[in-house]
Amino acid sequence: MIFWFSGTGNSEWVARMIAKMLPDDRLVNMAEAVYQGDFSYHLAEGETLGFCFPTHAWNLPLVVDDFFSHLQLTGGEQAYTYYICTCGDDCGRQHHRLKLTLQRHGLHLDMGMEIPMPNTYVCLPGFDTDSDDLMREKCRKATERVALSVQLIRERRTDEYHLIRSSWARTKTYLLGKAFRRWLMNPQDFHTTDACNGCGLCMKSCPLHNITLLPGKQRPQWKNHCTLCLGCYHRCPQQAIRFGKYTEKKGQYHRKDFLADP
Ligand SMILES: Cc1cc2nc3c(=O)[nH]c(=O)nc-3n(C[C@H](O)[C@H](O)[C@H](O)COP(=O)(O)O)c2cc1C
Repeated sequence: MIFWFSGTGNSEWVARMIAKMLPDDRLVNMAEAVYQGDFSYHLAEGETLGFCFPTHAWNLPLVVDDFFSHLQLTGGEQAYTYYICTCGDDCGRQHHRLKLTLQRHGLHLDMGMEIPMPNTYVCLPGFDTDSDDLMREKCRKATERVALSVQLIRERRTDEYHLIRSSWARTKTYLLGKAFRRWLMNPQDFHTTDACNGCGLCMKSCPLHNITLLPGKQRPQWKNHCTLCLGCYHRCPQQAIRFGKYTEKKGQYHRKDFLADP
């Protein structure tokens, strides 16, 4: 069973690639599980247990934390357990946070893989999407790291951690990550420009069902259970969505331009 979460498609792509190569694997969308209040799962004998999601501020995304705080999993204690985390370039100590989270559920980690993929964080000065060349290069290498992950899972390799070197990792995850959640994730900082034509794609693409269209003007309105995945920002065909003051001249990332559907 692979539990996944994705805002802009990178981690979903990884989860689907793995499920395709390990055909008996079931996929569970953690955001949808949180939305539906679906937290009870049972792992059959011999089934592997995988988690796949992006790094958000060197941490687990808020919705993934939320999922773990409700998860009721049976049959997982002896299962081969792995996680794959996609990021722009640096996951900090997220791996350690996940290990502790799994321990609280009586689970241990056998394999961890961090995969750099096109960056999607654009909300602060100095953060933008990667150049096309860099995105292509990251996607090429990501394909190799997915293949390696599948090999490690098939061989049930334990104590295999393929992590990206991170300086000041503790400070990033435990100090800056917390500050980020406290001050830089307010969904009320989302707004649209006059280019918004009310197509509603943002609403449809929000994995948390957090966006409604205001009647009359058909402009999106963000409710408060946002995980700041930026799926809405990157999918807007009019590039009309802004977050705070710094997203005006930033790029968009479309996964399908760089990675074919699994
Ligand atoms: C709110 C937010 C915070 C992010 N923080 C980090 C980070 O701390 N380190 C990093 O390398 N990438 C960071 N990223 C980039 C994503 O982890 C990366 O692009 C990931 O592959 C996106 O996955 P997805 O398409 O499955 O949502 C962040 C992205 C967002 C939206």
